[in-house]
Amino acid sequence: MSHQPAESRARVTLPQLQTWRLEGRKVVMTTAYDAVTAQIADAAGVDVILVGDSVGNVCLGFETTLPVSMAMMNHHLEAVARTRPAALLVADMPYLSFHLSVEDTLRNAGGFLQRGAQAVKLEGGAKRLPMIHALLDAEIPVMGHLGLTPQSVNPMGGYKVQGRQAEDAVRLLEDAHKLQEAGCFSLVLEGIPADLAARITETLEIPTIGIGAGPGCSGQVLVFHDLLGLLPGSSPKFVRRYVDGFQVLRDGMAVWAEDVRAGGFPDSRESYTLPEAVRPVLTQWHP
Ligand code: KIV
Repeated sequence: MSHQPAESRARVTLPQLQTWRLEGRKVVMTTAYDAVTAQIADAAGVDVILVGDSVGNVCLGFETTLPVSMAMMNHHLEAVARTRPAALLVADMPYLSFHLSVEDTLRNAGGFLQRGAQAVKLEGGAKRLPMIHALLDAEIPVMGHLGLTPQSVNPMGGYKVQGRQAEDAVRLLEDAHKLQEAGCFSLVLEGIPADLAARITETLEIPTIGIGAGPGCSGQVLVFHDLLGLLPGSSPKFVRRYVDGFQVLRDGMAVWAEDVRAGGFPDSRESYTLPEAVRPVLTQWHP
């Protein structure tokens, strides 16, 4: 696989995504939540880094994304932004950060941009249009997010594939077009049938980025911890693990623990020495 490492590539811009859409070049997006995950993703040459509210599930131990706050998102975004990735940096608007008022939404999203994000992502269809218009008016680029939107876990009755019924599929098609007309630069399509996602994609001009939405999208996103197998237990159907990260890291840690207990770590390779002339001080000193 060829990729351009972060040091040798120019920063990805919003217009570039549109160009890639026209050229048929797939967009690669993953999540990052801190400096290490951002540096790994960027060094691998991904196009877009999303500081997702999935931080709640994969890093903070919440069962849903609903408890994730702006303070948490800002904390994680700042850590990612400090690494100055070449990838386009998008920050996810958490639950209640874009629901209360236009003023509140602008302050939250604007704060993301001031912390280094180039765009924000928010979940929901037509009913989010007033907030999307206000954000775009304030020069804040918006990535939409339709389908299985995790912040809607309660009304959806669980994490279920969306758009399987005719009227739901049509609503999603219509929502996608409304978000494009409003000016969203891209859409995440999550947890919908592959043929529906392909139809949405071929009828839109902006790129779609799929997760559990089949191969017909303009790009793909997977959560960092999912694709690198960092979480114990089984993965959902739409995830492919490219490394069994949990096992690799656990095994490394277990070998280190064994070395410590057996007195094999550290040895001279990991130790500092006192200059020869200073050594007598140790034996001459008594408590
Ligand atoms: O928060 C997140 O990680 C996301 C992606 C799954 C798109 O919204």
